Amino acid sequence: MLRIAVMVSGGGTNLQAIIDAVADGRIHDTEIVRVISNKADAYALQRAKNSGIEAVSVTRSEYAERLDFDRALLKALEEAAPDLVVLAGFLVVLSPEIIKKYKGRIINIHPSLIPSFCGEGYYGLRVHEEALKRGVKITGATVHFVDEGCDTGPIIMQKAVEVRQDDTPETLQRRVMEQAEWKILPETIDMIARGSIRIKG
Ligand code: GAR
Repeated sequence: MLRIAVMVSGGGTNLQAIIDAVADGRIHDTEIVRVISNKADAYALQRAKNSGIEAVSVTRSEYAERLDFDRALLKALEEAAPDLVVLAGFLVVLSPEIIKKYKGRIINIHPSLIPSFCGEGYYGLRVHEEALKRGVKITGATVHFVDEGCDTGPIIMQKAVEVRQDDTPETLQRRVMEQAEWKILPETIDMIARGSIRIKG
């Protein structure tokens, strides 16, 4: 059984896609052991509770120092003892300590085709605003392993999505979620649960 901890910051539609895929068997042999949010009012926490999954929040404002916040996040992870950490719209950069501890066992979903529109400052709706500004005709989503850099880890899965002439950042975000994110994130977790993904080198 693969134990996963899911880290979130907002609405949690990707979390919901994982919950649904575990429930209907598209993700095999996997249990979501804890959901961790850095926002106390994130709707993702409610989604977890609705499905009987333990949900906790660890917010930056609870701690005077960033270091203490990072330690609290690590503790929240360690308590859950996950085999895999899934960043599903988690908009905090993880500390080097967490990355070291879970090296090769953290994956992230990013709403563009990396290496386009990624790195520092590219998150959520901003990614789609920049894609529209640049006038790309194809965008998409990427699932990748997390390393010490920002969106630089090994790419596991990508899916392309068409940009339409009349798109707004919101309509494009929705299409990228529906056609790409909600599919490739559960698919990747299932592949990891089946042991069919390995990092070489
Ligand atoms: C998703 O589009 C996800 O790809 C993005 O935040 C959104 C969260 O939505 N993540 C990033 O931008 C990470 N750099 P959700 O809370 O509904 O899953």
